[in-house]
Amino acid sequence: MNILITGANGQLGSEFKEIQKKEKQHHFYLTDLEELDITNFIGVNKYINENDIDVIINCAAYTAVDQAEDEPKIAQEINVQGPEILAKSAAKNACKLIHISTDYVFDGNKNTPYTENDIVSPLGVYGSTKYRGEQMLISSKAEAIVIRTSWLYSSYGNNFVKTMMRLGKEKENLKVVYDQIGTPTYAYDLALAIISIINSGKKLNRKRSIYHFSNHGVASWYDFAFNIMEIANIDCYISPIESKDFPTKTVRPFYSVLNKSNIIKDFDIKIPYWKDSLAVCIKRMKK
Ligand SMILES: NC(=O)c1ccc[n+]([C@@H]2O[C@H](COP(=O)([O-])OP(=O)(O)OC[C@H]3O[C@@H](n4cnc5c(N)ncnc54)[C@H](OP(=O)(O)O)[C@@H]3O)[C@@H](O)[C@H]2O)c1
Repeated sequence: MNILITGANGQLGSEFKEIQKKEKQHHFYLTDLEELDITNFIGVNKYINENDIDVIINCAAYTAVDQAEDEPKIAQEINVQGPEILAKSAAKNACKLIHISTDYVFDGNKNTPYTENDIVSPLGVYGSTKYRGEQMLISSKAEAIVIRTSWLYSSYGNNFVKTMMRLGKEKENLKVVYDQIGTPTYAYDLALAIISIINSGKKLNRKRSIYHFSNHGVASWYDFAFNIMEIANIDCYISPIESKDFPTKTVRPFYSVLNKSNIIKDFDIKIPYWKDSLAVCIKRMKK
């Protein structure tokens, strides 16, 4: 199949550079803003048409959660108009579309894992634009699904793991919040799950339009940081603090664990435990 990756220089998109080495039956078209701007309908449509694309995996997004409060128009263009354009082009060219969304569509007031049917109530501009982006796919005529994920990290791009490893080497102790609960997700595992969905050959949105995916298990950012130091063998003391003592521009959900039973059931996806995947990622970073 001809698979188009948008946002291929980001964390998730970059993982497809690894995936393509194994998935030789597919041809991957890795594009980022310079090659293909997802907010340009004519450009997107032309690219899909000329390259006979069968599946689009939309990894492109505006992901700066706090900055989005100051740049709502840019966030909206990339996170809402982008998916709208991709969905229109996918429908026009009869190709499938897999779009990525976020746990930040929820307000975090639950204390049991969020299912795809739970009511969304984003707390900020980023979550709100991502939710409206989902709606663009769901209301379109494209054969498309949305996969919501959480706390993404990778050996590529900027993320919490890299920041903690850098700061841990510079400082003797760090304060990290322990009252926000979710699940760290290794972008490589998500990329593998997406490829499994494509390789299953199943029609998308046959059963549902939205799926949840993260690694297995639950953690606070404190637990995440603690395990990063332990696995990376960095001697830095992590102190647990409350979110009120670490104010950010956008309030984050206190609880955003995702229920993944639907994606497991419908596509027979095998999901690793988050600490195991963290160890794999850190090992890869050290190579
Ligand atoms: N990061 C997380 O913790 C997290 C958590 C849950 C869900 N997600 C979702 O997971 C997906 C992947 O996230 P990620 O962390 O891999 O994102 P990322 O690292 O920020 O990568 C996004 C990529 O998209 C590019 N891009 C921006 N505007 C574009 C446009 N108009 N056309 C084409 N490319 C464009 C970005 O380029 P520039 O860097 O030049 O802007 C960047 O290379 C996103 O949908 C995100 O919302 C992320």
